[in-house]
Amino acid sequence: MLAITNCSQILTLRGPARARGGAEMRDLGIIENGTILVDDEQITAAGAALKIPRGAEVIDAGGRVAMPGFVDAHTHPVFAGSRADEFEQRVAGASYAEIAARGGGIRSTVRKTRAATEQQLFEVASRHARLFLRCGTTTIEAKSGYGLTMNDELKQLRVIRRLDAEGLIRAVPTFLGAHEVPDEYRGRTREYVELVVREMLPRVAEQSLAEYCDVFCEPGIFGVLETRLILQAARSLGLGIRMHVDQLSDSNGAALAAELQAATADHLECTDSAGIAALREAGVQPVLLPGATYMLPSDAYPDARSMIDDGLPLVLATDFNPGSSPTPSMTMILSIAATQMRVLSSEAITATTVNAAYSLNRGDRIGTLEAGKLADIVIHDVPDYRELAYVFGIEHAWRVFLGGRLVFSRE
Ligand code: NIG
Ligand code: FE
Repeated sequence: MLAITNCSQILTLRGPARARGGAEMRDLGIIENGTILVDDEQITAAGAALKIPRGAEVIDAGGRVAMPGFVDAHTHPVFAGSRADEFEQRVAGASYAEIAARGGGIRSTVRKTRAATEQQLFEVASRHARLFLRCGTTTIEAKSGYGLTMNDELKQLRVIRRLDAEGLIRAVPTFLGAHEVPDEYRGRTREYVELVVREMLPRVAEQSLAEYCDVFCEPGIFGVLETRLILQAARSLGLGIRMHVDQLSDSNGAALAAELQAATADHLECTDSAGIAALREAGVQPVLLPGATYMLPSDAYPDARSMIDDGLPLVLATDFNPGSSPTPSMTMILSIAATQMRVLSSEAITATTVNAAYSLNRGDRIGTLEAGKLADIVIHDVPDYRELAYVFGIEHAWRVFLGGRLVFSRE
């Protein structure tokens, strides 16, 4: 038994058992001066005047804020090497697409990731998992996509499975074999798509190595027709669908996500209002990644305000990856969302906890602090949740619990 006492605010996110849209996103279900009780890996109660069971281990939160661990619903955490050099080139004026066209970008990370052993990748990914925890993130959706051969994709997916199995972090695996056309298939995109559909996907499904399939849908990478082909095949093998769409141009990716009834449509920087309406009608959750806009650098932020006001159950995520968004920090995302997209802290916290959990089909286990949920709890060293985005550039997580187990502590 564990009792977390003296929380200035407990952000319970209690409410309907589904993702939230519109004004609902501003209701964090706050309990002031509260206590959370945990038995083994589950929450048994959260309330203001709870009796502390005899023999419970007491953690005094000291007037700090407790909330669910962040759920980061879009990350690329298994890769080798860094692309700090490309970031400098972008700052100096080169575009992400230009760098990619001359063999940099995703393909440069692919070369380094292929050269790494599974154990080396596991060590890098474990380091990334620790970074997520210290930022207050307890669940990540984790994509492959830097292997682009059968063996190198499976290698990445096994690393993701091991992160989760060894309890380093909760990780939901997504197969992203169609992240880029690899060097050896340049000019033969169609043949690479066949490899993904006929060989990689069936093997991934047979070995139960992924819950979702994702595609980078962008003119010049994988077009709408190729994306549809891959994702229909994934669906027929029982995988859920997530998509990178309309990031660098509007290619009607949102409409395709709606047509395919994807779980999520991610990025959406260039999506028009018809695209947003299509997502709403189809019940597809938008996943916005403002870290990628910030780092390109660009000022083309997606239209989060309309999405929230139109009632879409918005998700915000880091897009943690070595190119467009090398941050594991969800509080940084909250801050960028506030100043660049006018998203309130309450809305952003809903988008990065309960809404993100439902987008990963995990809403019954994580994302809120309610009795019966897993005790993925973060105590932040702030007296009021609005400080998370306001005091930016430092991490506020002070104690992090994963299933009731203390996995990060800072003093
Ligand atoms: O979500 N756009 C495609 N994929 C990633 C970038 C990956 C990379 O640059 O390595 C993204 O932004
Ligand atoms: Fe991404």
